[in-house]
Amino acid sequence: PSGTRYEAENATISQGVAESNHAGYSGTGFVNGDNVTGSYVEFSVNAPAAGTATIALRYANGTSTNRPAAISVNGGAAQARDYAGTGDWTTWTTDTFTVSLNAGVNTLRVTATTDGGNPNLDYIDVTTGGVS
Ligand code: GCU
Repeated sequence: PSGTRYEAENATISQGVAESNHAGYSGTGFVNGDNVTGSYVEFSVNAPAAGTATIALRYANGTSTNRPAAISVNGGAAQARDYAGTGDWTTWTTDTFTVSLNAGVNTLRVTATTDGGNPNLDYIDVTTGGVS
């Protein structure tokens, strides 16, 4: 298998900003999405072949309220993921799940489904299958 990191601050941001005021992030910062339902970060993800990919999404949620998100690939049916509080905005953790990718370029959108918005998003690591 092979993995590629996609930094949230380099992705398409709808209703949010790239920031760097909470330490511990990878790259040059993270995305602070607006605290509204529907704010999202959309990654452009490449896959060498169609198939299942493992996504490791790194986030921080300094509140004590869950910030669930809908994960949708290429505009398809979403899967819901929970992003519970991590204790502090500088405490980052990783959520791992799988998606189906097409060969070539895919969109992977992380959309806030509550008024709290998304947690702060650092990156996704995408691991695609195959013989290495
Ligand atoms: C604070 C924090 C931000 C975070 C925001 C939120 O303002 O500094 O990084 O995004 O809370 O509640 O989403």
